[in-house]
Amino acid sequence: MDPFWNGRWNEAPPAYGDQPNVFLAAHVAAVPVAGEVVCLADGDGRNGGWLAGRGFSVTGVDSSEVAVARANARGRNGYHAICADLRDWPFPPCDAIVSIYAHFPPSVRAAVHARAWASLRPGGVFLLEGFSPAQVLLERTSGGPKDVAMLFTAAMLRGDLPGAVFEVIDETTTSLSEGPYHVGPAEVFRVLAQKPH
Ligand SMILES: C[S@@+](CC[C@H](N)C(=O)[O-])C[C@H]1O[C@@H](n2cnc3c(N)ncnc32)[C@H](O)[C@@H]1O
Repeated sequence: MDPFWNGRWNEAPPAYGDQPNVFLAAHVAAVPVAGEVVCLADGDGRNGGWLAGRGFSVTGVDSSEVAVARANARGRNGYHAICADLRDWPFPPCDAIVSIYAHFPPSVRAAVHARAWASLRPGGVFLLEGFSPAQVLLERTSGGPKDVAMLFTAAMLRGDLPGAVFEVIDETTTSLSEGPYHVGPAEVFRVLAQKPH
């Protein structure tokens, strides 16, 4: 479907490493026990597969068929990757949405987040890490889109997740070590939000 992403996922070393994202791993206790999790733009399943290993029932969605083939080749019980475009994928009811470096143009992001948020059951959580605009403004070389409109801000996520209770909503500097494409100082945005009961 997408030559850019298929090309990246055809490279031998996993583009973003084979370990879960650090923010996700640090906050996994917030995900409802044994819950159903949807991982947006899950790539080769480093995050979704890791969650399945912790007892969650995980669906990873990504539009790259190469990534999805790699994800399903992991053969993790409780993990299933689907090749679909999130712009028109029908979200099932779920207990958590995990969005790790899932950057989209503004109109796509707003619509995807709206449908993801609507699909969450009460008490469910929305966990996101991506780059903030400072990544471009400071000319960081640790990855991400160069179009600032595709990067995340607190005002944006407060608008995308109406009624959310935010446990984390931060822009911060970190040091990434996630495969060959996320390496070095980085300006990231993180959210952990709960949908009220
Ligand atoms: C930076 S990678 C992140 C992969 C994974 N979340 C991770 O952190 O390892 C972004 C992913 O978004 C996927 N993607 C881009 N646009 C998409 C869309 N409209 N629907 C589904 N996946 C999409 C790409 O195929 C790619 O795998």
